[in-house]
Amino acid sequence: MKYSKFYNDSIDNPERFWQSQANNLAWYKTPSTILSKDQHNYDQWFEDGELNLSYLCIDKHIEDGFGNQNAIIYDSPVTNTKEHITFNTLHEEVSKLAGGLQNLGLSKGDTVIIYMPMIPQALYAMLACARIGVIHSVVFGGFAPHELAIRIDDCKPKLIITASNGIEIDKIIPYKPFVDEAIVKANHKPEKVIVFDRKLGVNIQHKNYDVGYSALVEKSPSIEAIPMPSTHPSYILYTSGTTGTPKGIVRDTGGYATALKFSMKYIYGVDEGDTFWAASDVGWVVGHSFIAYGPLLNRNTTILFEGKPIKTPDASTFWRVISEHNVKAMFTAPTAIRAIKKEDPDGALLKKYDLSCLKYQFLAGERCDVATLNWTEEQLKVPIIDHWWQTESGWPMISNMVGVDLKPVKPGSASLPVCGYNIQILNEEGEEVENSVEGYVAIKLPLPPGTLSNLWENPERFKMGYLNRFPGYYFSGDGGYKDEDGYVFITGRVDDIINVAGHRLSTAEMEEIVSSHKAVAECAVFGVHCEIKGQKPLGLIVLKSEKISETNVIQKEIIQDVRREIGAVASFRDVHIVKRLPKTRSGKILRKLLRNIADEHQYNIPSTIDDASIIDEIKSTYQTQKIGIHK
Ligand code: COA
Ligand code: AMP
Repeated sequence: MKYSKFYNDSIDNPERFWQSQANNLAWYKTPSTILSKDQHNYDQWFEDGELNLSYLCIDKHIEDGFGNQNAIIYDSPVTNTKEHITFNTLHEEVSKLAGGLQNLGLSKGDTVIIYMPMIPQALYAMLACARIGVIHSVVFGGFAPHELAIRIDDCKPKLIITASNGIEIDKIIPYKPFVDEAIVKANHKPEKVIVFDRKLGVNIQHKNYDVGYSALVEKSPSIEAIPMPSTHPSYILYTSGTTGTPKGIVRDTGGYATALKFSMKYIYGVDEGDTFWAASDVGWVVGHSFIAYGPLLNRNTTILFEGKPIKTPDASTFWRVISEHNVKAMFTAPTAIRAIKKEDPDGALLKKYDLSCLKYQFLAGERCDVATLNWTEEQLKVPIIDHWWQTESGWPMISNMVGVDLKPVKPGSASLPVCGYNIQILNEEGEEVENSVEGYVAIKLPLPPGTLSNLWENPERFKMGYLNRFPGYYFSGDGGYKDEDGYVFITGRVDDIINVAGHRLSTAEMEEIVSSHKAVAECAVFGVHCEIKGQKPLGLIVLKSEKISETNVIQKEIIQDVRREIGAVASFRDVHIVKRLPKTRSGKILRKLLRNIADEHQYNIPSTIDDASIIDEIKSTYQTQKIGIHK
């Protein structure tokens, strides 16, 4: 099948195109209304359809005779465990946990937070919620109690599901204590906390609200999946915005299932029964779409990997997993490849494994630099597919659609728009620009099925953040350009969001924490280039008084504050003292200028700058402190 015909069909006749894709799912009630408007006058898909994600991911395959196929392979080098979980076993675990949730009084429309490491029970919890229409919100384990508390107050869960602990390379991460701390901090108090004890010798301090996971599952009845309207929210997933408050992306059910089934076949090029591996975390959108729901919907075996690309135990782990579990397509972030390349530059460890099962290597989460793309291609000798998407979209927006026809790879580009995404590059005035001209990456409405349906209980922020900037378009927040063949090159965020090791973080949020330190008069936090993580946050602070001594104590306290409030995942390790910050005459700090100087990108000194002599001061600080390209 030719990509251009397939793509054009999706843009010219979206309703016909997506109705036909939706027919690949087993609906309880097949939709007859394909595209309509919701109460906020925003597009929604398959309004009158009814289905259940948990049924489609589990029961359907058992009914089709695949109960003994592996649904999940849990591979955990940090605990030295491997577990093969069939669809039959998955059914038992999920349907009983769903029964347990029902016994605890949960029903359709209630919310639950899942704060768990990469263990099978995290997937069971997601699927058990989906089985009875409970809306889950998975929070990434690298976030601190404060961040968890913000999410508790926003989505007001009736219950939290957690585990005793996680394991990061060689340290124990206290999940349950973090939940207890978050509940103390939050205004909303969940009724119960279900705790899965990993039995790793970690002592759990029990509270009155605790319910033991294993005992609950043991005594609960198995229950059937309940039909859900297509527009019913399947989950809320928080992501960084340009303010200190994260945005709760709401995902529907029917559009999402349609988009994921479509993605597995046409983007990732895998057939039912194949093994697929996304080396991410259930706390991110990749985990939702391509560890949990996508592969399971498509009857793929999904790999649940609890480890890191390096040090668990070494830089050969990824290759071992691919080879041992017969992975056909794999997905990771370029940062993981850079970490492996640093430890094993010649690929000596990789050569120890038979990787002939691997057909495609996908990369996303951040811009893929050409050196990383080339190295991966040389080592793996399969197509390396960079593809672009966001928490908001839920599935890829720009990709080489290898299941349709493999197009030539152009280093630096995520390739061509995926079916359903009418991607345009706009200027400040919202006009489409010529090829090769950089602008704002926007998508003409309607977005295809599976993309965000709103922000949780905040339709105004949804409109302000995504729809108002360019009427008739969804604004992605990224900049980029197209070449003469229609390939899109993403150049990076145009706002205060940074991407650290594939993790999306808000510098505005970090600034709020840094500026609340008692010694800080003002500050700027922005992302600078990092060889492994792509970007890392850097803080520049101006002290309230030049007479303040023990500046290294202040620096350490600020680093600790950010770690305590946001979490280790912020990777905030550099804060430097400067005498002043460059500002416009109206007092706005010129963060982009600070970043460009650090990374030695081309920059113009804005004509509105208050005092241009400050640039030399900043440059000399960068040199003496070995910041950015000076390190
Ligand atoms: N739970 C608790 N803590 C976590 C965590 C989790 N799930 N994930 C990360 N952290 C902690 C780490 O332990 C580390 O803590 P430290 O400061 O005490 O060392 C901190 O957060 C930063 O972690 P990370 O960003 O993972 O950096 P690293 O230096 O430990 O590892 C890489 C570097 C490149 C190996 C790692 O970032 C990586 O594997 N990246 C790929 C990420 C990815 O797949 N993203 C996909 C999103 S699509
Ligand atoms: P997240 O919502 O965490 O998935 O982060 C989405 C952001 O990551 C996007 O808006 C981009 O800025 C960046 N991103 C993701 N994939 C790519 C890619 N393939 N190329 C460039 N940037 C990417």
